[in-house]
Formats: sequence, C-alpha cells, structure tokens
Amino acid sequence: MSIVAPSFLSANFLNLEADCKMINESEADWVHLDVMDGRFVPNITFGPMIIEFIRKATPKVCDVHLMIVEPEKYVEDFKKAGADHITVHLEACTHLHRNIEQIKSLGIQAGVALNPHTPVELLKDILHDLDLVLIMSVNPGFGGQKFIQQTLQKITTLRRMIDEKGLATKIEIDGGVTLQNAPDIIKAGAHVLVAGNTVFKSKDPKDTIAQLKKIN
Ligand code: DX5
Ligand code: ZN
Repeated sequence: MSIVAPSFLSANFLNLEADCKMINESEADWVHLDVMDGRFVPNITFGPMIIEFIRKATPKVCDVHLMIVEPEKYVEDFKKAGADHITVHLEACTHLHRNIEQIKSLGIQAGVALNPHTPVELLKDILHDLDLVLIMSVNPGFGGQKFIQQTLQKITTLRRMIDEKGLATKIEIDGGVTLQNAPDIIKAGAHVLVAGNTVFKSKDPKDTIAQLKKIN
C-alpha cells in the first residue's frame, strides 16, 4: 500500500482545524507542509508558527518540505514546531551532507528534494544517509500544475539505485499527482504520494485519500 501525504498548500487556511479533522479521520499517513521563501521559489507560504498549530491539531506524521535557501538557519525552528521529517532541496544546499547531518542530529528523518531538471544520479554518494528522496514532478512553487512525464524514468532509476544498495530510503513524488497517474507512479517504484489539489479540491477528500491509499 502506498503512503499518502496530502499537501496543505491546497487546504482552506481560513479553517485549518476542519482540514486537520478531515485528515485525522482519513487514511492519510502524513501531512505534507510546503514552506516557500520567495527566493528559492517564486512564492511565499508559511513558516514554523503555522506548523506548530497544525502539529497540535493532528497526530499524523508532519512531513516538512523546505523550498528555501539557507535551510540550516531554520531547521531547528521547524523541529521545535513539530516536524517529523525535514526535506531540503539539493539545488539550495552547497553543503548538502552537512545539512543532512544537521537534520539527523535533531533526531528526525532527513530528505533531499530534486527539481525536475536535477538527475537522480547526483545522489549516488549521499543516498545511504537519506531517509527520503522527494522527486519534484512539477516545478516547485505552486499547487495544481501538470505532472511532468519524465519523472517516471527518474523514479525507476532511483528505485534501482536504492534496491542495489539494499537501502530503506523512501521515494516521495510531489506535484500533479492524480488518481489517474498514481498507479504508474507507484508501479515505477515510488513509495509516497503527495497530493494537494487532487485531495483538497475533490468532492470527497476522505474517499480520494482512501483511493490513493489502495494503489499498490
Ligand atoms: C509544490 C509543492 C507541492 C504542492 C503539490 O511546489 O511542493 O507539495 O502542494 O500540489 P499538487 O498536488 O496540487 O500538484
Ligand atoms: Zn511539496
């Protein structure tokens, strides 16, 4: 069964409590929280304060995706706010190994995210240190974009790299995930489906989560 991580980017920020309640009653495994700084990506979202509120309203795993430059300045704040996972972008980290060590030293899981143009092969020498690899299947910054088809090939290659080394690193796919393309994404070797619009804009979000969860 796939791991399902609804993205709060598409939630109703006037009533986050109701969306947390829906998530709590659903089969969702994680909540995916997109932090954007207006520098690494052309959009600004929220920071540790909002995550602290969401943390109080849900026992689900808080999966924090940092789309920010200089993440080392903030990872401790995000851990304090309740993050269970922190994922940083390879393209934003000159000293990626140091960033990963810093996150792991806080006792939480560490991930690396890759933009659509970044080859998965660049992770060869750090893969064994990673709990998660997040492959962006759209250009980061906004919800509701179209899935980039080349991602499927990247998933297959990365999954082979992980299996060859006998690692437990999870592959998370983020952007444009729908009920239609999710089976191909899982078949290619992904473990985690992030879904913003597909969940929150659907008629019955809980049922949509249940359908994503069934895909294997
Ligand atoms: C985009 C974010 C995604 C976003 C996905 O930069 O990283 O997590 O919420 O939204 P959908 O699923 O609507 O493409
Ligand atoms: Zn994300």
